[in-house]
Amino acid sequence: MAIAHDQRAEEWPGLSGCRAVITGAGGGIGRAIAQGFARAGAVTLALLDRDEAVAAETAKEIAGPSTLTLACDVADPASVAAAAVRVEAELGPADVLVNNAGLLRPGPLATLPLSEWNALIGTNLTGYFLCAQEFGRPMLARGRGALVHIASIAASHPQGFSGAYSVSKAGVVMLSRQLAIEWGESGIRSNVVSPALVRTPMSEAFYRVPAVAERRAAMVPLKRVAGPADIAEVVLFLASPRAGYVNGEEILVDGGFSRVLMDLVPRPGFDRAEHTNR
Ligand SMILES: NC(=O)c1ccc[n+]([C@@H]2O[C@H](COP(=O)([O-])OP(=O)(O)OC[C@H]3O[C@@H](n4cnc5c(N)ncnc54)[C@H](O)[C@@H]3O)[C@@H](O)[C@H]2O)c1
Repeated sequence: MAIAHDQRAEEWPGLSGCRAVITGAGGGIGRAIAQGFARAGAVTLALLDRDEAVAAETAKEIAGPSTLTLACDVADPASVAAAAVRVEAELGPADVLVNNAGLLRPGPLATLPLSEWNALIGTNLTGYFLCAQEFGRPMLARGRGALVHIASIAASHPQGFSGAYSVSKAGVVMLSRQLAIEWGESGIRSNVVSPALVRTPMSEAFYRVPAVAERRAAMVPLKRVAGPADIAEVVLFLASPRAGYVNGEEILVDGGFSRVLMDLVPRPGFDRAEHTNR
């Protein structure tokens, strides 16, 4: 079922006038998050991506808020610090940081080069920490702010042959919890959104293989793969005052996929086929 965006739904989050920084804003989920903030009445958006051209495409697609597009490599402390200075000078202090920029690369742990391990951790985990520090500083000074970090179902279910991906995402969940307890008294909330199967440029190559899209959809209780907007809706909620007492949490946005384990067990007399027409 498509998500309806009527006027009242757009006002509901109470995000009108907010200033948000989004990393990886040129990617699939990052772009949907930027569009969501624009619809919710964000006044300014800082769209950060290592690839400035894709962030600029996101800016072009957005109507409403003024946008600042910046080339920023979240794994590079100097790049993040420079971006934070420009955002504060040109847009003012951020109310919201969405840590979303991420990498996925194949690699078996048995032979994974250290450089590969470090590259993934550097973006997916250290990058989130660096952005939290730099964009969190003005939040700490003003005594308010919201951090939303995109992790993954892989934070709790190891994804084999993906190098440091699962480890990096598990680290994000704990980083967020630690920020939640260290910064809560300063009025800053920190929460995680963990997607499972989402069709974006990161995962597109999988879906181009014949039958993979159908097989993946069939594995999810809701019988569909997520679109980036499914993830963005939950990010908006956690960033918003509607989630004003939610801190240190992780919300799985997976269509129920992480709950199917017992359904995979052959159990004669209890099998789905024996109780439904399907
Ligand atoms: N697509 C999925 O199925 C899925 C599932 C679970 C979690 N996620 C997570 O969601 C987030 C967004 O992923 P997506 O699917 O939109 O991927 P994507 O590849 O479409 O977008 C990621 C964006 O991050 C940018 N980026 C990568 N490294 C960067 C760096 N060092 N500095 C700045 N920008 C950088 C890329 O240029 C890209 O625009 C990631 O953290 C990813 O791990 C995705």
